[in-house]
Amino acid sequence: MLRAPAKDAGFIQMNHPTVAIVGATGAVGVEMLLCLEQRNFPLGKLKLLASARSAGKTMTFRGEEITVEALTHDSFGDVDIALFSAGGGISLEYGPSAAKAGAVVIDNSSAFRMDADVPLVVPEINPEAAKNRPRGIIANPNCTTIISLMALKPLHDAFGMCSIIASTYQAVSGSGAQGIIELEEQMKAINAGEPVTLKVYPRQIAFNVIPQVDTFTENGYTKEEMKMLHEGRKIMNLPDLRVSCTCVRVPVYRSHSVSITAQFERPVDADAARASYAGRPGVKVVDDITNKVFPVPLDTTGKDDCLVGRIRKNLVFENALDLWVVGDQVRKGAALNAVQIAEIL
Ligand code: A2P
Repeated sequence: MLRAPAKDAGFIQMNHPTVAIVGATGAVGVEMLLCLEQRNFPLGKLKLLASARSAGKTMTFRGEEITVEALTHDSFGDVDIALFSAGGGISLEYGPSAAKAGAVVIDNSSAFRMDADVPLVVPEINPEAAKNRPRGIIANPNCTTIISLMALKPLHDAFGMCSIIASTYQAVSGSGAQGIIELEEQMKAINAGEPVTLKVYPRQIAFNVIPQVDTFTENGYTKEEMKMLHEGRKIMNLPDLRVSCTCVRVPVYRSHSVSITAQFERPVDADAARASYAGRPGVKVVDDITNKVFPVPLDTTGKDDCLVGRIRKNLVFENALDLWVVGDQVRKGAALNAVQIAEIL
C-alpha cells in the first residue's frame, strides 16, 4: 500500500487505503460508515474512533463487527485517510496529529474551512481544489452551503451568479444525535401534558421553528448564516459574491431545505434554468407545479441527490430566479461529500 505523505500535492495513488472515521458513533460517523459500504469504497482496513465512552463497542461494516477504539494522538500511524466528524475542538486537537502521521485529513467541522492552506471541496463543484493541501487537510463545507451550491452551480455556469438571498429550513439531525433526542423528548412531554426541557435549542423545537442556528455574530447574523457567504465565495471562487441568509431550525428529523433568490449577470429564463441541470451529477430537477410536484425533506432522506424545484423568475430583482432546494444534510451535506472527497483522492 502506498502511504499518503501530508506534503503530497495532487491526487495520490492509494491502493485499498486504511480509512479512519473519527466520531464513528455519531450521526454523521454512522452515515460515513454506510456511505463507504454502499459505494463499495475500495478500502483495505477501517478504523473506528470515538471517545473513551464508546471504546469496546462494536459496529457492523460489510457484515463484520469492528471494535470502536478511543481516539488518541497515536491513533493515525497506519491511517491513509482520516474522516473527522467529532466536532471542531476534536478536529483542532487531533487533525494536525493525523496529518503529521501521514494521513490525509478530511474534516467535517468548521475548524479549518477558512484557512487559506486548506481546500474547501464539493466534488461536483471544485474537485481540483483537493489537489493542493499544504497542511494535509481538506475541509468539508457547511451542510447548508453544500446543498445550496449544488443547486446554484449549474445556474452560475449558465447565467453568472452575483448575489444570493436565502432562508433555510434546517432539520434537527444537523445538531447531531442530541438534536433528534431533544425533538423526540419534547414531543413526548407535550403529548403527556408535561413541561418541555431545553438542552440543545434556545427555544422549544417541537411544533415550533427557531430563527437561530449557531451563535450570533456582531453584525446580527449567526455563524451559520455567515458560513454561506464566506464558504460560498471560497468554493465558487467568487470573492465578490454577495450573500444574505437567515437560518431557521425546523422540527424535521432529516434533510435541510433552502429557499433561494439568486441574482445573475445575464438575463435568466426559468426553462433555461431547468435545462442547466441536465447531465449534472448529484442534483435533479423536481419541478412540475401543475401536478403539485416539488421536493420535500422526506424525498431526500437517506438519498444522495439534492432536489431542486419551484424554479421561477423573481418578480422584484432583475436577472433573478427563485428556487427551492432540498438535500439530506447528514448525507450530501456531510458524510457523502466527505466520502466523495476520499474517492477523488
Ligand atoms: P461518543 O459517541 O463516544 O461520544 P454527534 O455529533 O452525533 O453527537 O456525534 C459526535 C461524535 O464525536 C461521536 O462519535 C462521539 O463519540 C465523538 N466524540 C465526542 N467527544 C469525543 C472525544 N473527546 N474524543 C473522541 N470522539 C469524541
